[in-house]
Parts: sequence; structure tokens; C-alpha cells
Amino acid sequence: MRVLELKAASGNCKLLIGESIERVMEYCNAKKVIIITDKNVLQLHGHTFPKCEMISIDSGEGIKTLETVEIIYERLLELEVDRSSIILGIGGGIVCDITGFVATTYLRGIRFGFVPTTLLAQVDASIGGKNGVNFKGYKNMIGAIRQPEFCLFDFELLKTLPESEMKCGFAEIAKHAAIGDASLFSYLEVNYKEILKLKKSIIEKVIYDSLKIKADIVAKDESEKGERMKLNFGHTLGHAIEKTVGLPHGKAVSLGMVLAANISAKKGLLDKKEVERIVRLLENVGLPTKIDFDKNMVIDAMRKDKKRRGDEINMVLLKSIGNVMITKIKIDELEAMIHEPDMC
Ligand code: GLY
Repeated sequence: MRVLELKAASGNCKLLIGESIERVMEYCNAKKVIIITDKNVLQLHGHTFPKCEMISIDSGEGIKTLETVEIIYERLLELEVDRSSIILGIGGGIVCDITGFVATTYLRGIRFGFVPTTLLAQVDASIGGKNGVNFKGYKNMIGAIRQPEFCLFDFELLKTLPESEMKCGFAEIAKHAAIGDASLFSYLEVNYKEILKLKKSIIEKVIYDSLKIKADIVAKDESEKGERMKLNFGHTLGHAIEKTVGLPHGKAVSLGMVLAANISAKKGLLDKKEVERIVRLLENVGLPTKIDFDKNMVIDAMRKDKKRRGDEINMVLLKSIGNVMITKIKIDELEAMIHEPDMC
């Protein structure tokens, strides 16, 4: 096991990389522990959970609502949960987002920790302190930023994941390498097959390195005033693709990264050979790198993006693999570029 400490303005979080869920109680340090999980995770991994009170919600994005939060508050009241208790979220990104929000708001904030059970949640959603729910069709509209006390990463839990979910998690690892660690990127190019097969020594190194990149960024800029925007590489267009085409997040981010890399090359920032390396890695893993749908829909979604400022949007571009810059770009210019041949 390897440990990283994320030190942020809202609190510190211990990242326990390669620890077993069977030892999670050692980190809870409370008389009352309440698990929040979902029905799928409970069915697959319930036998590994510690014996304590549990709140099990349905799965899927549709459950990420204030109604679900209210149901959980009611149950916490019934269970007489107080400030000496700890809430443990065991599940994917949705469970982590809801648990973090509940724990941040119930009694103005009680202790919480996570055991993320998907690769995507392990390398992204569970760390960084962002939490929240959707509201009136807007994703993550209501929420806060507060660090869990710990995140426990047990790779055994990933063994039940379908291959497509592993690939989606890989997209975020590739993103971290592309924005912050050229040597990790080279390592992914050589070892991607073993990563997808969850070879222990390799997955531990890759998750550690990936989390280190995100943790260092969040430590510098938890509230996303500047540095943290780097984590949006591939997400500006990726979110628009996810929303309009309904692709899973990791696949949309893969396409978003290819577009952002090509835009970086068009602007003379990035060598074309580096774009080819990114495309090849994503292709080798089995992630999409070519859009076969109407790009106008993507641009329309960008015009409606809440992060847009006037006719411009912040975009993360690559100067080289491992080195990024944040720049404002006019949506009209973006539109013209993404319609050029060979963009994606
Ligand atoms: N998933 C991007 C962030 O945590 O900022």
C-alpha cells in the first residue's frame, strides 16, 4: 500500500492506495459508522463491507437529486447520527458525490470517507472534494467542496467492472498523464494492456501517479480559480459531447482530448507527433477518437455551457505531453476549427 496526503484549504485527505476494504474500520475511528452505497455495489461487494448501519440507494444518474439527499437525511435522523459519527460512501462517482454532499450539509458537516469502487471514481470523482447533486436538468448544480478524511483504493473491487468501464477510467488516467506527467504517459503507452487486466504492481503505480497529479493541483487551487482548470483538459468539448450524444463520460472525454490536442496543434502549440501519440494510446485502449455524429450539436451545447463567458470559453490546450496552458477561445473560432478535416 502507498499513502498520499492531499492538503487542501477545506481539509486534509489521506489517499490509501492499494489498501483493503477489509481494514476500512481502522480509518473510521468513530463509535457509529454509517455506510451509504447503491444496490448494485451492495450486491457485488456487500460481503466485504464492515458490519454497521447502511443506507442503500438506487443506482444511476437519475438518483443524484435533492430528493435522494432528503431521504438520506431522514434516515440519518432515525439512526441518531451526530457529529461523533462518520459516513462512509462505498460506490462509484454518484455515491461519492451524494455522500460528500450529505456529509457536508447534515449538522453543518460531519466526518466522511470514501471507498470508490470504479476506476473512474478511484482516479477522479472520489478525490478533490467536489460533491453535489443535479438540479432541474443541470449537472452538479447544487454542491460544495469539502475533502473526505480518507479515500481507500482497493483494486480487488475493480475486478467486477465491465471492460468498457475500465476503459472509461483509463481516459481520466490518460488525461492526468497528458496534463502533468510525460513519463507516466510513456508508461501508459507500454503498459496499457496490463493496466486493463489490473496487474497489481502496475495498477498501483499508475493510480498512485495519477492521483499525485490531481492531488498536487487540488492542493494548490481547491476552489478552481486557475490551476484546477487544468483538470478540464478534454472536458470542455467532452462534456458537450456527453450531453448531446449521450456517450459515457470516459468516451466523451477521449474525443474531447483528441479535439483539444488537435486544436493545440492547429494553434502551433503542440507537435503533430504528440497528437498522434495521444490518438494512438486512446485507440489502443479501445476508446473512441473519431466523431461520427453532427459536430454542430456539440457547438450548440457549448453555447449553452454554464462555464461560457460571453462568446468565449476557457479551454485547456497542450504545449507538449505533460505540459498544458489555459486559454480563452472564441466559440466561433472553435466551431470553425472542429469542422476542419482530420480534427476528430
Ligand atoms: N474532475 C475535475 C475536478 O475535480 O476538478
